[in-house]
Amino acid sequence: LRAQNKVTFHPDAPTQTINRNIYGHFAEHLGNCIYGGFYVGDTSRIPHVNGVRKDIIAALKTLKIPNLRWPGGCFADTYHWKDGIGPKDKRPTIVNTWWGGVTENNSFGTHDFLNMCEELGAEPYLAGNVGSGTVQELADWVQYVNFPGKSPMSDLRQQNGRQQPWKVRYWGVGNEAWGCGGNMRPEYYADVYRKYATFMSGNTFKIASGANSNDYNWTEVLMKNIPLHMLDGLALHHYSIIDWGKKGDAVNFTEEQYFQTMRSTCMMDTLVRKHSAIMDKYDPKKKVALVVDEWGGWYNVQEGTNPGFLFQQNTMRDAMIAGVTLNIFNNHSDRVRMANLAQTINVLQAVILTKGEQLVLTPTYHVMEMYNVHQDATLVPVEVQSNSYTYKGEQLPAVTASASKDKSGATHISLVNIDPAKAQEITVQTGTAYRTISGRILASAKLQDYNSFTQPDKIKPTAFKDAVLKNNTLSVKLPPFSVVVLELK
Ligand code: AHR
Repeated sequence: LRAQNKVTFHPDAPTQTINRNIYGHFAEHLGNCIYGGFYVGDTSRIPHVNGVRKDIIAALKTLKIPNLRWPGGCFADTYHWKDGIGPKDKRPTIVNTWWGGVTENNSFGTHDFLNMCEELGAEPYLAGNVGSGTVQELADWVQYVNFPGKSPMSDLRQQNGRQQPWKVRYWGVGNEAWGCGGNMRPEYYADVYRKYATFMSGNTFKIASGANSNDYNWTEVLMKNIPLHMLDGLALHHYSIIDWGKKGDAVNFTEEQYFQTMRSTCMMDTLVRKHSAIMDKYDPKKKVALVVDEWGGWYNVQEGTNPGFLFQQNTMRDAMIAGVTLNIFNNHSDRVRMANLAQTINVLQAVILTKGEQLVLTPTYHVMEMYNVHQDATLVPVEVQSNSYTYKGEQLPAVTASASKDKSGATHISLVNIDPAKAQEITVQTGTAYRTISGRILASAKLQDYNSFTQPDKIKPTAFKDAVLKNNTLSVKLPPFSVVVLELK
């Protein structure tokens, strides 16, 4: 063991609140995320509220889910919201062309989603259809869900059983406009955005479809061509991926594949820095939020499942992705003020998996739950000096960290060691003296371990004892591939 890892708190440096919306989730009409995931229908034997599973609502409330993005993803640019309102037996069907070519019966629509968000205590984030919709259609949707007075759209809402508007604040103006959202050039999309945004009335937080990973030109062109008063958020999508043509298995992966996934995960730090630097040029006061509204691990689908359903298992590798990424977001929370893990249930890096009545909380769920202490807390800037995790001569930082102080005065630090073989001793200089320390750890025997329907609690947080506090110095020993969150008082 080398004791070179050093984390230094800068409690007096200027800082900001870590927006709880960084801990947001994403639910698309894709595979079994909505149907067979959240929504089992109102005749199901599984306990539900208006067709939404009660156990899922409880689990997401424990997570303190702050916001939920819906209905896509690529699906959003094929979705016509008026298909999903009114009596369910009268709703038209469509084909979900992006995801498995299955028939979408529209039984889960606007009311179902927004009422579910109320149950969850989460803010809805609606992604509008720009690719195949119209300006009028999106303007109508805004009026339908938000307008308190009398109008054709609010009348329609009331006829469908909802008196008061839901007051939806977060709106995506299309999704991946560079790809499934219309294959547009940034110059063209900037104009399209301006047009759509012009007709979205009321108090809406408008988020432009953002760059694909390191497409910095996309950010540059949008920031240059969209006036700041029309823009509240600019999106960014980046998945932790080995190679789009060779994504590898979600469970049976080699160390080489693990390293490649971690390399792609660590790249988020560079992406956030570089996109932010471009935004700083046009928006030095940081009015516009960088909204990373799709992130997470993406592997081959589980064998025997529909290739268009993107079902994958969730191992300790995914816990590493979550821990590292959330530390990056916390540390850049001056600009990153919202993010959405893809996707909540049964799709990609899910926090919940379901099979019939059964439900499993994944290692990623546990990381999100452990980290929720950072929501709306004040960031404590940290400087991290880390040993390297080296694979075949290539290096990544083994240790990442972020810290915050909550409203009660407690300080939390989240630490991740991605090295699959070596424990890490870390010295934390806290700058102030604390009296007590407690904490939890997420670890397991093998990197490939996961929670299954037969062993749902194989991986879960346990009490962490390997931390010693002496005045301003904290000594921590992190086992290989583990996530630790400590509370200091
Ligand atoms: O999350 C799955 C898909 O990934 C989304 O629909 C799309 O926006 C992205 O390409």
